[in-house]
Amino acid sequence: MLLSMDDTLSAQGASKHVPVLLEATMEYLQPEKGGVFLDGTFGGGGHTRAMLDSSPEVCVVAIDQDPEAEARALALKEIYGDRFRFYSMNFADIARVEERSFDGILFDFGLSSFQLDEGERGFSFRFDAPLDMRMNNREGITASEFLETASEADLIRAIRDYGEERSWRKVVAAIIGARGKGILGRTKSFAELIESVIPKRAGFKERIHPATRTFQGVRIVINRELESIEAGLEEGFRRLKINGVMVAISFHSLEDRIVKRFFRKLSGRPEHRKDDRFQEERQVLGSMIATKAVKASEEETRNNARSRSARMRGIQKLVEGMA
Ligand SMILES: C[S@@+](CC[C@H](N)C(=O)[O-])C[C@H]1O[C@@H](n2cnc3c(N)ncnc32)[C@H](O)[C@@H]1O
Repeated sequence: MLLSMDDTLSAQGASKHVPVLLEATMEYLQPEKGGVFLDGTFGGGGHTRAMLDSSPEVCVVAIDQDPEAEARALALKEIYGDRFRFYSMNFADIARVEERSFDGILFDFGLSSFQLDEGERGFSFRFDAPLDMRMNNREGITASEFLETASEADLIRAIRDYGEERSWRKVVAAIIGARGKGILGRTKSFAELIESVIPKRAGFKERIHPATRTFQGVRIVINRELESIEAGLEEGFRRLKINGVMVAISFHSLEDRIVKRFFRKLSGRPEHRKDDRFQEERQVLGSMIATKAVKASEEETRNNARSRSARMRGIQKLVEGMA
């Protein structure tokens, strides 16, 4: 029996992930005009499906480094056949993709609901599980191994710089003191350790769990997330056709800063306040679709909590070259 698209996808659990800023993404990418698109972060395939459904003239090449995304991609392959191709790899390696050029490219960074909701992946302290946190769990070291062995400088980079944790000194000292006791092996015991050293502010109700920032920082480091974003954006822009559009959706300020600076550089604007190069020293290779990031509407944030922190930016390529 041939399953319908929704049957096939819900059998894979794919209906759990609600794509963020879907309408705005489609407005920027305009897949209904046809062409070849790259989805650098396939996840549950929500954006990919919307692109493929927008016109029979659309082909999508999708990437995801999570081995579990591959099963969901196979389900899509059944439906869309040759119009859909999947690469199980890091988007930092876009150079390995066979297709040479794209009419549009999308990056929807961060974690999918599948990763967050599957306790065993170790991303969330809502479940007690081994502290893994690797998006690609076929390689690399787990978060637990990182915490047991990292130098103090690497811990500081994770917790202060990437987690933006104000009490980073206390957290780093607690991690080093907890080594070899099994505490750093599981999500719950690690979260409790952090909670025990972060001071509670009197009369102030915290919006987020005290371990949230540290979990974010450790995840960013062990997955080399920021380095991958830089590489993916650069190689992606190289593969974009003239007039093609690249869209990036970020979920925290560190990701958004990289996207914003890269897009500003491509459009010949100062990358940041201290960038005082002369205009003649800048190249204009693209045009930012809007100066301000697009945010989710009130309605979307009501229906999909993940969309609250989403910031979307887009750039259209004008000429070949690399800034
Ligand atoms: C927010 S989800 C994408 C959701 C997707 N747009 C959808 O609508 O279903 C992000 C996905 O990107 C993947 N990902 C994150 N960083 C990656 C990287 N550097 N290389 C490849 N995949 C990555 C994650 O494994 C995750 O599945």
